[in-house]
Amino acid sequence: MSTTVIHVDPSDPDPQALVLAAEVLRRGGLVAFPTETVYGLGANALDAAAVARIFAAKGRPASNPLIVHVADIAEAHKLVSHWPREAQLLAERFWPGPLTLVLPGSDLVPPIVTAGGPTVAVRVPAHPVALALLRAAGLPLAAPSANRSTGLSPTQASHVLRSLQGFAEVLLDAGPTSGGLESTVLDLTARPYQLLRPGLIAPGELEAVVGPIQRPEADRATEPARSPGRQRRHYAPQTPLECAGDDGYQQALALCRQGLRVGWLTFTPSQKPGPRQLVTYLLPDKPKACAAQLYALLHTLDLAGLDRLVVAVPPQGDEWLAVHDRLRRASAPPTPE
Ligand code: TXA
Ligand code: MG
Repeated sequence: MSTTVIHVDPSDPDPQALVLAAEVLRRGGLVAFPTETVYGLGANALDAAAVARIFAAKGRPASNPLIVHVADIAEAHKLVSHWPREAQLLAERFWPGPLTLVLPGSDLVPPIVTAGGPTVAVRVPAHPVALALLRAAGLPLAAPSANRSTGLSPTQASHVLRSLQGFAEVLLDAGPTSGGLESTVLDLTARPYQLLRPGLIAPGELEAVVGPIQRPEADRATEPARSPGRQRRHYAPQTPLECAGDDGYQQALALCRQGLRVGWLTFTPSQKPGPRQLVTYLLPDKPKACAAQLYALLHTLDLAGLDRLVVAVPPQGDEWLAVHDRLRRASAPPTPE
């Protein structure tokens, strides 16, 4: 099967394209679509066979549950057995938007979506194309990021095709996504509330609404995964990537001296030109701008035929948590978890 790519206006998608994509979803097929964070690979969340196709396409372990996307708060209610006041407050403040809430699941949700667990993750995406697709299909959509498991998430349609060509029947191409990193995942079933995955919404923004939340602990290889997306190696480019210490530039130069072609990603422009084997890329020093560009840059670098990528330490602070998290996982060795 080949993937039909349909170009749509990001703010005003063609209704005919949506009708076609919605048909595919109602038949149990897969549709890749843009959200405000990254592109997702969507299926009817209420159809276990359709959801199984997502796992097969991604090579995703059955133990890693999926986020269910819905059009509004009323649709989210149907998927959960309890909708606490905190969920209402957070949804009113952040939806549509890059916040995923983990809540007790309802019987409507097939176990394959939740990896057999008692909770379900839900969010209302803020992209006009995602919302229009949800409304056209009239279905909740299970949708992970549209990439092979543990790989780099896609922020453009070309990234989706690079790893999942032929798996989705339709790809709605609305150009680059604006957010560039995944949603923040917050577990409201745990006490204190747990930040399972840092994302585009910083923890402080959530705490302003619901009080203190627990940040993810530093990962230990032996720790059983609460949120399987927290597995150590994830979000990784194919080119080996290492996070630099304070002497990142020297680290990159040392690799060049070994004869390697090195991509050096830094937040501070360098005064002097480096050796020929060193290719320097400047990352934005503001967290939202950096998030928006990080995956796209890593995709580009993956195609540049470099031997190694060295990334400087990002600035500290809550706003940078998601960037730190993704870089740490992208640099984890590809050993068994
Ligand atoms: O921004 C996003 O969230 C994107 C777009 C497409 O919406 N989606 C996304 O999905 O990043 P995925 O599957 O790549 O990551 C979902 C994360 C994983 O870390 C998964 O383990 C966690 O959410 N998750 C899903 N359901 C869960 C549940 N019931 N309990 C705990 N964690 C859950
Ligand atoms: Mg993912």
